[in-house]
Amino acid sequence: MASDALPRVVRTRAELRTALASAARPIGLVPTMGALHEGHASLIRRARAENATVLVTIFVNPRQFNDPSDFEKYPRDEATDVRLAGTAGADIVFIPTVDEAYPAGFQTTVRVGALTEPLEGAVRPGHFEGVTTIVAILLGLAGAERAYFGQKDAQQLLVVRRMAGDLGIATEIVACPILREPDGLAMSSRNVRLTPEQRAAAPVLRRALLAARAGYDAGERDGEALRTAMRNVLASEPLAEPEYVSCADTATLRELAHVDGPALLSMAVRFGPVRLIDNEPLA
Ligand code: PAF
Repeated sequence: MASDALPRVVRTRAELRTALASAARPIGLVPTMGALHEGHASLIRRARAENATVLVTIFVNPRQFNDPSDFEKYPRDEATDVRLAGTAGADIVFIPTVDEAYPAGFQTTVRVGALTEPLEGAVRPGHFEGVTTIVAILLGLAGAERAYFGQKDAQQLLVVRRMAGDLGIATEIVACPILREPDGLAMSSRNVRLTPEQRAAAPVLRRALLAARAGYDAGERDGEALRTAMRNVLASEPLAEPEYVSCADTATLRELAHVDGPALLSMAVRFGPVRLIDNEPLA
């Protein structure tokens, strides 16, 4: 149940271990990089509903930022995050330093194969190695029954599932739906960095996805035609600089010439220095 009580904040691996030793099971883990918004709150609420203990982690993970200025400018507000996590139902919030997350002598990298190569992997070298390494650490430290990830980062979700399966990690990886602003913009910690003009332009991602979805619903099955439908809508917005537009197989993320099974429409679009992603599954 959500409450106004502040959750217990722990900062070291040892403190986390102690806090979890006496925690009621099952444990639900919600890994985050902070700058929590309603999308994160929905993950935490879901974890609250399904588990006896909810652990939220807040760590802006330097290893997953291929762009140092994106890392520096990533919004950080610990006090607000801890309050929001508590209100949504967190019992424990783990906020490690970089040295605590990656202790002295750290030399392990977790790398998933082909699934990390297209889309985000192609434009953000090293990103997924950073993600899978920190997620493996957090899953190991938490020993949770369930871990909650948002579907907005659809490739991340697939990659984390693959990693957990491959490594025999028992934690169930739970996918949670995208939360949107009333104008369709997917909630993201990066939205606060948009200028008012960029913010007004940003719902073009959703419009582009919905244009392709409408084409699909009307019977279009040509992958390139669906990608073109998205590109055309994005081209109508001068502030939008598309990085990639994709219509790919949901399981492999390979681009499709023809859609004859589950597919994922996805895109990354820059508005100045701010990079937004969004997606829409086609079943
Ligand atoms: O999705 C995120 O916020 C991050 O990639 C995650 C899963 C917390 C790992 O740093």
